[in-house]
Amino acid sequence: MYNLTGRTALVSGGARGIGRAIIERLLAEGAKAVIGDIDAPAGEALASELGPNASFIGLDVTSESDWAAAVAHAESFGGQLDILVNNAGIAGKTIVSWETPLEEWHRVIGIDLTGTFLGCKAALPGMVEREYGRIVNIASVAGKIGNQNAVSYSSAKSGVIGLTKSIAKDVMTKGVLINCIAPAAIETEISKQVSPAHWDYIVGRVPMGRAGRVEEVAALTAWLCSDEVSFSNGATYDISGGLAHY
Ligand SMILES: NC(=O)c1ccc[n+]([C@@H]2O[C@H](COP(=O)([O-])OP(=O)(O)OC[C@H]3O[C@@H](n4cnc5c(N)ncnc54)[C@H](O)[C@@H]3O)[C@@H](O)[C@H]2O)c1
Repeated sequence: MYNLTGRTALVSGGARGIGRAIIERLLAEGAKAVIGDIDAPAGEALASELGPNASFIGLDVTSESDWAAAVAHAESFGGQLDILVNNAGIAGKTIVSWETPLEEWHRVIGIDLTGTFLGCKAALPGMVEREYGRIVNIASVAGKIGNQNAVSYSSAKSGVIGLTKSIAKDVMTKGVLINCIAPAAIETEISKQVSPAHWDYIVGRVPMGRAGRVEEVAALTAWLCSDEVSFSNGATYDISGGLAHY
């Protein structure tokens, strides 16, 4: 267990799936946790289910003004924002690269990559000023190896890995650590957004022969959100049942 008492976290896409598991784990570690999600009914219901240390704020990660409001909400809810998890993401259509509509490319890059950039941009000034912060970006193994029929998603997640490395260099001596996670095949709603054949392809290449669980991703994230991580910045951690390529 990591002691996060006194820390305040904001998790984008925290209403369900991996984000929800991260919210629950951070609360269990003693943090206050803000669910930022575009799905207001699910986010509000979860916050009231989880009790007084949880709060919900409507957040579309593609909106810079939403991010400013979400960071302000977390700061007033918990006193300061210590932890940001950029988790919100979509898989996009399962479609061959040359038939991918430009608007689909922009939709996936906008949420998965630009949304992560905007979250970092909103949270970093306060973290740098207070000389403390932990940011975890949820990328994907797709960003390392490139998934078939998923050019927008793979490109966005490669971008998240590069963004993490770049921002880490900006904050290296400022008390802020920013790292990312590259999961593969975690059983959530997102697995239902892709075609059944594509999901079989994703799980089928996992050497452990099974999909991952949201609690497994939340455990790695909790460590990266804690003071136990102190000498890692700009790193990418695989959580992929052995599907590690570099
Ligand atoms: N499930 C997997 O196999 C897998 C593998 C690798 C990476 N990931 C990544 O993990 C993250 C979470 O995925 P998940 O499987 O839990 O998905 P999910 O679909 O279950 O949950 C995604 C959450 O993000 C929210 N969201 C979507 N668009 C948003 C927006 N514009 N603004 C704010 N919130 C928004 C949704 O409402 C939802 O609550 C994503 O970034 C995804 O790419 C998932």
